[in-house]
Amino acid sequence: MLLTSAANMSLYRASTARLCKTIASTTTNRLATISRTRTPRFATRTPAATTRPFSSTLAHHNASNKDKNEPAHAGTFARTDDSITVQYPGDNELRSSEPVVGGAGRRHPNTLALFSLEGRVGVVTGGARGLGLVMGQGMVVSGADLAIVDINKEEAQVQAKALMAQFKEDNPNANKAPNVTAHHADVSDPESVATCIAEILAAHGRIDHLVTSAGFTENYQAIDYPVDRMRKLFAVNVDGTYLFATAVARHLMERKAKGSMVFIGSMSGAVVNVPQPQAPYNSAKAAVRHLAASLAVEWAHAGIRVNCISPGYMLTALTEKILSDNPDLKQKWTSLIPQGKMGSPEDLMGPVTFLLSDAANYVTGADLRVDGGYTVT
Ligand SMILES: NC(=O)c1ccc[n+]([C@@H]2O[C@H](COP(=O)([O-])OP(=O)(O)OC[C@H]3O[C@@H](n4cnc5c(N)ncnc54)[C@H](O)[C@@H]3O)[C@@H](O)[C@H]2O)c1
Repeated sequence: MLLTSAANMSLYRASTARLCKTIASTTTNRLATISRTRTPRFATRTPAATTRPFSSTLAHHNASNKDKNEPAHAGTFARTDDSITVQYPGDNELRSSEPVVGGAGRRHPNTLALFSLEGRVGVVTGGARGLGLVMGQGMVVSGADLAIVDINKEEAQVQAKALMAQFKEDNPNANKAPNVTAHHADVSDPESVATCIAEILAAHGRIDHLVTSAGFTENYQAIDYPVDRMRKLFAVNVDGTYLFATAVARHLMERKAKGSMVFIGSMSGAVVNVPQPQAPYNSAKAAVRHLAASLAVEWAHAGIRVNCISPGYMLTALTEKILSDNPDLKQKWTSLIPQGKMGSPEDLMGPVTFLLSDAANYVTGADLRVDGGYTVT
């Protein structure tokens, strides 16, 4: 008998699901083995006073995450693995990022003028590295001057020069070179934020756009999360976004000027990704997403738009380091992404420019997922 295409599809899905579950089960077992035999390098930096030793973490995993009466496959595709522990590394443990070289850095005149950020001043927090640096470059290529804000001012200075040099190399005939400056701030500290905003205004005279990329993730099972680190995570990801956004909104309102902001959330603010446990990060990013929506409503009257971008798994110095310490994780992650690969920072240049620009004039309070389809399956 001929099968209809719908029936074919459901048979295909069923066999694919069985295959995936087998892979996931094998991967999870391998991960547990790796964790038992090798302590991740980040875990060795965990303060002894606040975190349990790794072996005790594993004991919790066995006790809490797996019921011995369950069939072997039960939940393997949809649970966190409590044995994965990653602490955010120090700056000297991550390699520097580099501006994008080539096509993405060149300006092409044949595009909708609404996408241009010509004559605007943008601020990107966490702009010295990773996603923030490349989104900042996207703003510069689109015509904006840029203030890079980071807790690591030296790296921000190096990258400010690199962005200007890259722009000149990619656009030798441009009639205006962008002005890119570097500024220190700890985004979680209100005084540091106020000082930084004053410094940016002194350097650029105005601010029109904000991108909040300063943030970090860590992996501990919730019952073992050191409380000081949990508070720090919320302070940088949530308070940091709030403090910078309100400071820039105050400035825009005083100027009676329109402006737009993009908060960098994460797909983890909408789904609980597996297998790494990260409850505080997930909830912090959910807060960032809803903060964008709430402020969009509160500031709509002032012509200030606020949107959120929720990236999926992107290859940066940080994720590269996590993956080099947990090699099987990449296979697990990419098996769950419909596009079958992690994103590159470059994939955020267009989305952030669109949302900041006048092309998105009627878009506010939105959450744009840039995740290769992860969250729609
Ligand atoms: N890389 C990913 O796969 C991914 C996925 C989804 C969301 N995100 C989010 O994107 C943002 C950027 O991530 P990334 O991968 O580029 O990280 P990253 O660690 O490479 O860059 C973060 C930057 O923020 C700076 N920073 C950290 N704490 C700060 C503070 N208190 N004040 C000021 N600056 C500070 C760091 O010095 C660094 O330059 C984060 O909010 C992250 O949660 C990343």
